[in-house]
Amino acid sequence: MKIAVIGAGYVGLVTGACLADSGHDVICVDKIPEKIEKLNAGIMPIYEEGLEELVSRNTKAGRLQFTTDLDQAVSAAQAVFIGVGTPPLETKDGDYAAADLKYVRSAAEEIANAMQDYTVVINKSTVPVGTAQMVAEIIQSTNSQAQFSVVSNPEFLREGQAINDFMKPDRIVVGLSDDKAKAVMQQVYKPLIDRGVTYLETTPETSELIKYAANAFLATKIGFINEMANLCEAVGANVEELSKGIGTDNRIGQAFLKAGPGFGGSCFPKDTEALIHIANEYDAPVSIVKSVVVSNMNRRMEMLHKIISVCKGNVNGKNIAVLGLTFKANTDDVRESISQTIVPELLKAGAQVRVYDPQGMEEFKHMNLDIEYASSVEDCITKADAVIILTEWKEFQQANWKSLKDKMTLPVVIDLRNLLDANQMTESGFDYHCIGKLSDSASDLLRKMA
Ligand code: UDX
Ligand code: UDX
Repeated sequence: MKIAVIGAGYVGLVTGACLADSGHDVICVDKIPEKIEKLNAGIMPIYEEGLEELVSRNTKAGRLQFTTDLDQAVSAAQAVFIGVGTPPLETKDGDYAAADLKYVRSAAEEIANAMQDYTVVINKSTVPVGTAQMVAEIIQSTNSQAQFSVVSNPEFLREGQAINDFMKPDRIVVGLSDDKAKAVMQQVYKPLIDRGVTYLETTPETSELIKYAANAFLATKIGFINEMANLCEAVGANVEELSKGIGTDNRIGQAFLKAGPGFGGSCFPKDTEALIHIANEYDAPVSIVKSVVVSNMNRRMEMLHKIISVCKGNVNGKNIAVLGLTFKANTDDVRESISQTIVPELLKAGAQVRVYDPQGMEEFKHMNLDIEYASSVEDCITKADAVIILTEWKEFQQANWKSLKDKMTLPVVIDLRNLLDANQMTESGFDYHCIGKLSDSASDLLRKMA
């Protein structure tokens, strides 16, 4: 099938490349000419494992193309995916941000003007309830001759695992209201349906809400385990064992119970806020989701206080090494990352900050902060008074911490991802701090003292 994907960002590009790999004839469209030039030269605009190879294989096979020419791509397509960004709208303090639909609206207009025969327009971007209807109205009013259906088909792609999440999804959700669109969507996903993937057909409104509800639920699990981590620290329990202890109950499940510095990224923070906004609009408040948002905001400040208190209440004039800038490992994305709060706050408190991240430094530089960018873990931690781990990169875990210790001024490590082995770190002479647990040796010591 001939498919166009509008927006070649994290979601659009992965969607386009995976659909091409399933055998479709795909053109990805983006407004930014440099992005398209790079893609045509085989250079990926984002870091996502396996993407470069997937794109290369499918462009060589002639199934995947990149262009800025939306008209040409859409006029030939039977299915058009909208994968443009839906960032949070600016709000007054205290309000919950709705999703900004300006890119979706302009894409819908451009698609309407370019459409030829019957076309299915698919909202892949995360959009509020009623957006399928809104897109249909825009297309109808822009081009009264257009023959089309609008479908909601949310993405559930985790950055860093997006290709796998597309190719082996837990489910595919499509929200539609007519049989013609049903047939086209079943054709789009035939290769995955044939492999036995769960395929759920529902109304556009339910589909739109499923996306927000899924992300809000996952965010709730994270918020919950982070609060349990605080409680574990207070009572001398171990949050990792607690996660296992509750997660092995099938009704709860093990996933998304890893305590850390709070959730970030381009989805959970904005989607939880947008869900609250929608719920308030419809006068059906979601108090649980509200608590999760508040708890996650507090978490950032809790982490800052933890760092300051380990540094004996004062980081002024201290050399602080920050390992990890991205909102999680295996991506170059720093949107809504904990580093965006912690690094400026450390600077404000008078610290000298040196950072290192395997992929996120270029994006982080847009913050224009007065910090040093290191070239490796060793370069970053040399002469540090304290090291803070903000992202769970394997490279940090695999570093030879025993030998790194001598490079530091003070052997203080604050591991906000519980990435390193607590016992080994303590035994190696580090003053090691993590989340929701004490190292075994520290617990032993406490037991002996009791
Ligand atoms: C996506 C979804 O769209 C968002 O709703 C979801 O919640 C997260 O994932 P993402 O892929 O992260 O967003 O966005 P981004 O990486 O910013 O990519 C959007 C692309 O669309 C950009 O390359 C931008 O240039 C392009 N674009 C935007 C267009 O081509 N046309 C437009 O009119 C607007
Ligand atoms: C999310 C959704 O998982 C995905 O289905 C799609 O809707 C896009 O949004 P993504 O934002 O890429 O994916 O990352 P995800 O793996 O969900 O992590 C989000 C944040 O939660 C990260 O900051 C991560 O570090 C944090 N997290 C995740 C935890 O703190 N603990 C966990 O157990 C899991």
